[in-house]
Amino acid sequence: MIAFNNNIFHLTGKDFSYQMMIDEKGVLLHSYYGKRIEEEVSPITEQKDRGFSPNALFFDKRTYSYDSLPLELSTLGMGDFRKPAIAVENEDNSITLNLRYHSHEIFNEAKKSELLPGLYGGGGETLVITLKDDAYCIEVKIYYVLFPSYNAFSRYLEIKNLAEGDKTFHSLSSTSLDLSFGKYDLISFTGRHCFERNFNRSKMDALTLNASSSRGTSSHQINPAFIIAERETTEDTGIAFSLHLVYSGSFNFNISKDQYSSYRVILGMGDENMPYILKKGEMITTPQVIHTFSDKGLNNLSNTISDLFKEHLINKNTLSCKAPVLINNWEATYFDFDGTKLINIARKAKKLGVDLFVLDDGWFGKRNDDKSSLGDWFANEEKLGMSLSSLSDRIHKMGMKFGLWIEPEMISRDSKLYREHPDWLMRTPKQEPVKSRDQYILDITNDEAFSYIKNAICNLLDNVKIDYIKWDMNRSLSDIYSPVNRTKRGNTAHNFVLRLYHLLNIVKTNYSNILLEGCSGGGGRFDAGMLYYTPQIWLSDNTDALNRAEIQYNSSYVYPFSAFGAHVSAVPNHQTYRTIPIETRSAIAFLGTYGLELDPEKISDEDGNFLKTEIKRFKSYSNKLKNSHLYRIEKSQYVTCFLTVEKNRKSALLTAILKEREGNPLPIYVKLKGLDPNYTYSVFDKLYKGSTLMNYGLSLPFENKEYPSISYIMKAVKS
Ligand code: DGJ
Repeated sequence: MIAFNNNIFHLTGKDFSYQMMIDEKGVLLHSYYGKRIEEEVSPITEQKDRGFSPNALFFDKRTYSYDSLPLELSTLGMGDFRKPAIAVENEDNSITLNLRYHSHEIFNEAKKSELLPGLYGGGGETLVITLKDDAYCIEVKIYYVLFPSYNAFSRYLEIKNLAEGDKTFHSLSSTSLDLSFGKYDLISFTGRHCFERNFNRSKMDALTLNASSSRGTSSHQINPAFIIAERETTEDTGIAFSLHLVYSGSFNFNISKDQYSSYRVILGMGDENMPYILKKGEMITTPQVIHTFSDKGLNNLSNTISDLFKEHLINKNTLSCKAPVLINNWEATYFDFDGTKLINIARKAKKLGVDLFVLDDGWFGKRNDDKSSLGDWFANEEKLGMSLSSLSDRIHKMGMKFGLWIEPEMISRDSKLYREHPDWLMRTPKQEPVKSRDQYILDITNDEAFSYIKNAICNLLDNVKIDYIKWDMNRSLSDIYSPVNRTKRGNTAHNFVLRLYHLLNIVKTNYSNILLEGCSGGGGRFDAGMLYYTPQIWLSDNTDALNRAEIQYNSSYVYPFSAFGAHVSAVPNHQTYRTIPIETRSAIAFLGTYGLELDPEKISDEDGNFLKTEIKRFKSYSNKLKNSHLYRIEKSQYVTCFLTVEKNRKSALLTAILKEREGNPLPIYVKLKGLDPNYTYSVFDKLYKGSTLMNYGLSLPFENKEYPSISYIMKAVKS
């Protein structure tokens, strides 16, 4: 519910309240974010005459300073010396932005910009507060989209330049949250290619902390999803809230502690990709930040994120709802294939029960390695020995669906496209562009290059029967400059993301039956923005089950596991050279979309038979998995253990992997979570009450072999 009383806005979700207040001069202060309260409150901040904290707007009142008050949208020039969410240089080169309340509206729907991804769907409400700086002619609307039955809301800005000249933005953040008191931990997810989303929890007490991506993508290195937890918060108790930037470009996350030990948290588009010029009469909408809240620990927070994203963010595609099991030829063949080899892989996979064959990189132009042809989106018929259509038709005749890999935002110098349009490559005029994986960025901010790539994709989708697209992106954006448009770095970087979204939107809307899987060298663009278009994202280029268990466990803090592209790959593993039993590889892929990334012609009959049974088991349980909550049970030196529990608690999937074994090992006991205490579950041929499993616990019966695992569906036999 959204209410407005006595100059105080009060957003009430399932268990939380968020409040802000218009002060005497019309400045919007932040009053409260936390567990639900019924009363309207003003900021708790003690007002005192504080040295060197000025009194902008209140010249007669030395106790009132925006330098110490919690602000709802921090700017420069108001006597607040903390980091601003919005930093703008006006047409006369001054940097002041003095925003005052002008009006507000409340809508009974979730409002979303057409250009950007964000929360959608029934049951939402939106509060729009309009602020204005009349002297410098800027209008800022703050949007709060609330889904009152969830512990969640999102926030974004619409900024209009009503002045006669251009405005230059040096910071354009969507959210700034001032926390007046409390002891917090910050949880962030850092990593690298092939080892994304390492879990970091540290005391939030540094003076400033900056966690940003300037790569033009959300990046492998730091994910734009963060959790702030009260210091004593555990997986199952305590207060925590998350912030997700719904954006796939560079971003900026900043926490600063002020002189009075309050914290300011800022999240939005990347400062390092600024400045952004807003011309006279123009408007920019900033990306949404989704905020979720939990007063029952981190598992509860993750399940709120998961429920909200599945219902109100992720594109619901008919094929994704069926959870097709796919086989992807990448690790089976890399670039070394022809049509016959692919058909043989598909034929064998079909016998295992696979639904969808995905042809990865190397099918187009004259691409036989990663050095050429990006941009030449026409099939290499000589290599395939047939047209793409006939390959697709032959796969369909086997009763399988056909998927294709593309990397639309890229161009190779060795390509027909580059030879014809060298000025479509993103680069600065006077320096050689930076090369990465032998490829360059296609300047999709250029209208002509954009319509070329749009037509190339539509042409493929119109002429070949394609059911699935893997949308890849294999380098970071350097040289962020359009040789044709010559716009400022911020405009180019943001327009690049908008054009990407526009392309994805065309596919999502005009080819709505096609299932999109996002990818950026694995999980380099695993973010809430991409999830809006691509219901699943390839989680990592690392397919080693042991590493994957870690990446999946950590990613589950902030993303729904049903969106994790997860495959069973060959052994020894291509990234870690480790040999992990097929049962364990399969158990981990089960906690994701389940697919194969191997040559089924090269596996033993025994492994083939096992996979056949597993694929059948996955298909028969996948609907229940989609409708389950995930509980992180344990991650230690020895074991990683997850439990997914159907929302009606009638079944649960217990997954555990033994990572390290010693002689005369310690026993491994776990306490399960999320079950119905009164139901009786069958576990390893014995019956236990939910309350017993959650309190007394369970000893995990691992087999006597290397890297054993458990993947066991527990059913409620009595309620
Ligand atoms: C990176 C992806 O993550 C891989 O799965 C594969 O599609 C390659 N790109 C192909 O170039």
